[in-house]
Amino acid sequence: MTLTSEIVSRVLRGRTVSFTDNPRLVGVTDAVTTHDDGAVILSDDGHILWHGDFADRPERYADAPIENFGDRIILPGLIDAHVHFPQHRMIAAPAKDLLEWLDRFAFHEEALYASRDHAEEAAESFLDRLITHGTTSALAFSSVHGQAADCLFRAAERRGLCLVTGKTMMDRNAPENVLDTAETGARDSAELIARWHGVERLRYAITVRFAVTSSEAQLRAAGELYADNPSCLMHTHLSESAGEIAFVKQLFPWSKDYTDVYERFGLLGGTAVFAHGIHLSERECQALHEAGSMVVHCPTSNNFLGSGLFDIDHLGAAKRPVNIGVATDVAGGTSYSMLQTLAEAYKVAMLGGRSFNAFDGFYLATLGNARGLGLASEIGTLDPGAWADIVVLDPTATPVLAARDELSETLEDVLFALMMLGDDRAVEATYIRGERVYGSGISQAAS
Ligand code: GUN
Ligand code: ZN
Repeated sequence: MTLTSEIVSRVLRGRTVSFTDNPRLVGVTDAVTTHDDGAVILSDDGHILWHGDFADRPERYADAPIENFGDRIILPGLIDAHVHFPQHRMIAAPAKDLLEWLDRFAFHEEALYASRDHAEEAAESFLDRLITHGTTSALAFSSVHGQAADCLFRAAERRGLCLVTGKTMMDRNAPENVLDTAETGARDSAELIARWHGVERLRYAITVRFAVTSSEAQLRAAGELYADNPSCLMHTHLSESAGEIAFVKQLFPWSKDYTDVYERFGLLGGTAVFAHGIHLSERECQALHEAGSMVVHCPTSNNFLGSGLFDIDHLGAAKRPVNIGVATDVAGGTSYSMLQTLAEAYKVAMLGGRSFNAFDGFYLATLGNARGLGLASEIGTLDPGAWADIVVLDPTATPVLAARDELSETLEDVLFALMMLGDDRAVEATYIRGERVYGSGISQAAS
């Protein structure tokens, strides 16, 4: 991490929480850095200069303006590791399962993104939704149309966001107006990589919708593109629903399993991100572990579409842990809120007889996702040198939260109540690159 400025712009004072590692692996004490009366000191170019006890802040920062959040929780901005930009309006569309939902709703809605005007307007609404929910970075699917991804990149660049997206590659098993070809899909993706990957805080993800909607020629082209651009991410869906898995078996009869399809075409890798991964076999977990890929738990979507229960212990098994992330998967998912997403992850764990505590949840939504996206030196932490993308959560934001907060004794209690009962109403402020982009009502201007 390189700092570009030592000039302080402001101090955020409050109850700070940041992770240095995965609490499931190293234990809470070694994984969490927290200060009851903490300070995060921001530089004028949007980085974090210092994080620690307010009382211990270095003398050289003593005159900086202070935004005092009292007992509010100051966290690294939340990260959504899998969300669909062109589905953001069609949230809560019921269907019997994933494949019917795609046919009835998703493909039709995404077809509208052939219009640049539509995509431009939608990009602003989509980014507004993220920010008001305390989400400061995302790995987002776009539509098949190159210009829709271009609009989203442009909008994110204007806002100074760290965002990863890509044009969706899909050349079969969907309506004509949302299909490309193996050739145009690869060409348009390559053009977007050249235009956007590494510009400001933006990254490109080579985006294959899922094995169902790509021919072997397209999967091969995507694998070649990934090999040629190893610093890009690769983003797709994997092993989400029973109907999808059966369809993949039919389309790729030679494959050992679903993961094998992606493997054969060179789509597994350390920067590859697979959404869902609910029904993975031991062999598939081993392959994903060896590749260092991330599998993203999307609990509100899995529950809404009846896809199944993600097994966090199976994926994370100590002998061959697969990197796990967490995401909304809007619009299969039913909430933009990463807090609501964690609440659903908790319930899914309970249904499967697994544990999932508040530290597990907030780790995944910050550093865990940042690591899986290869961005942990930049986001997901309050460590000095990281970008000052920050969310402030109010544990008393609603009457229900406020009543529950009266019973909270420990930090874990407070975080647990926030994850179970919180949503966008609990977001007091969102900062991007050190600038407050959402929220008002600072409790005291300075103290
Ligand atoms: N699999 C392929 N496309 C999609 C999609 O848009 N949403 C979800 N949840 N799964 C998919
Ligand atoms: Zn998805």
